Amino acid sequence: MSRKKEVKREIKQNKTYCIKTFGCQMNENDSEKLAGMLKALGYTEEDDVEKTGLVILNTCSVRENADERVFGNIGAFKTVKKTNPDLILAVCGCMMQQPEIVNQITRTYPQVDLVFGTHNIHQFPELLHNYLTNGKRLIEVWEDSDTIVEDLPMDRRYPFKAFVTIMNGCNNFCTYCIVPYTRGREVSREPDRIFDEVKALADDGCVEVTLLGQNVNSYGNDLGEDVNFASLLRQLNTIEKIKRIRFMTSHPKDLTDEVIDAIADCEKVCNYIHLPIQSGSTRILKKMNRKYTQENIIERVKKIKERIPGVAITTDLILGFPGETEADFQETLKVIKACEFDSAFTFLYSIRTGTPAATMDDQIPEDVKHDRINRCLEVLHQISHDINQGYQDQIVEVLAEEPSRNNPKRLTGRTRTGKLVNFSGDASNIGKQLLVKITAAKTFSLDGEIIEQEATHGTIDPHDDSIPANS
Ligand code: SAH
Ligand code: SF4
Ligand code: F3S
Repeated sequence: MSRKKEVKREIKQNKTYCIKTFGCQMNENDSEKLAGMLKALGYTEEDDVEKTGLVILNTCSVRENADERVFGNIGAFKTVKKTNPDLILAVCGCMMQQPEIVNQITRTYPQVDLVFGTHNIHQFPELLHNYLTNGKRLIEVWEDSDTIVEDLPMDRRYPFKAFVTIMNGCNNFCTYCIVPYTRGREVSREPDRIFDEVKALADDGCVEVTLLGQNVNSYGNDLGEDVNFASLLRQLNTIEKIKRIRFMTSHPKDLTDEVIDAIADCEKVCNYIHLPIQSGSTRILKKMNRKYTQENIIERVKKIKERIPGVAITTDLILGFPGETEADFQETLKVIKACEFDSAFTFLYSIRTGTPAATMDDQIPEDVKHDRINRCLEVLHQISHDINQGYQDQIVEVLAEEPSRNNPKRLTGRTRTGKLVNFSGDASNIGKQLLVKITAAKTFSLDGEIIEQEATHGTIDPHDDSIPANS
């Protein structure tokens, strides 16, 4: 850090905060922990950056545009600090695990007061205290950690659904991906600690949990022989008041029959799997270090569909990975058609400095990437449209989540298969499981009408949420 930047400043205590979260659910869950720690210190939320005392930017580095958005945000605080001079600006998350980014911040963004990383968020109260007492810019980033700090306070966004991180880190080193460098190696939480957390959530009125990990299928590999993801699902399925168990993300290479059987057998585990395939070309998958082939994908998807009735499968795709030819792209289209994914997140390959793919030959021109993503979306949208048509006039179980963005008189919620449903209803329905009749099926969402308030668990087969209305 350059000496002239080490200026001390007098800080007036303003115990309000605003957290801006970028990136994945893992970051959202970390932000809930930061909010929990701040509330424990007596802080309250104030989202107006002109008035708030503390802003935390929890950053993501997965693609270049994620980095750019964060730098844009940090830049804007130069002006904000002129009208709100006591504001403390803290930056944390995945971008901070890269020394060159921290260097760039110390060199060019004097408005940043506090920097910490993904491995030491539990230190945040101590770092904030140090900053408040010294008034000097503070940078503390740990390279890695082999433990998970338990029992951090958590300020959860929703009372009826919650994220539960079951493991940190990733050991896979897919050649395009920055995450193993920003989140370190896999560390699983003890199953009993996860069970206790989910049980406490259930006792508190939470009905849906989403188990988080970069590759939940390798959960427990570091814990011993009798613990794995399948056993965890079976254990959590016994918690009475939990009605829905979701998880993400599943890596196809580790999606064993044992896991598929557990999903099929556990009535609370939703019939929905997010299974990122990234590409359908075996040649590209090898260059990506994904450790499965086109045949493996098609076989796993077939097995999932046979074993789990009514299952929805979504995926992630990267278009324009280095060396991807038109023939490779056609292989991806072939797999999409064979697997009939309910939907997909599609990404243009983005160079991440420090990853092996960044220096591979044959980087694909941007216009070719765009053309492929557009052609890919055409195929995906047609499949989504056709699958969603099957929901027309069906009665589905929906967990009502929040007022619809476009029309406050309507609510949005999700089926067990993860489909977004818009339906008429008022705020008193939020957090309830309802039976909803689908009146219009669109490509990206469904419209419906409530036919029964508060569906009791077991009213319909939780693994088949598409029961004909007149049955
Ligand atoms: N652990 C998850 C993925 C987490 S990152 C898994 O393996 O499935 C979320 C998604 O971002 C990935 O599935 C991938 O599709 C995309 N992604 C990651 N790195 C990328 C890059 N360099 N360029 C474009 N997309 C990328
Ligand atoms: Fe990235 Fe691959 Fe790990 Fe997923 S499994 S986080 S894509 S390295
Ligand atoms: Fe982004 Fe880090 Fe998640 S890089 S996708 S916030 S693990």
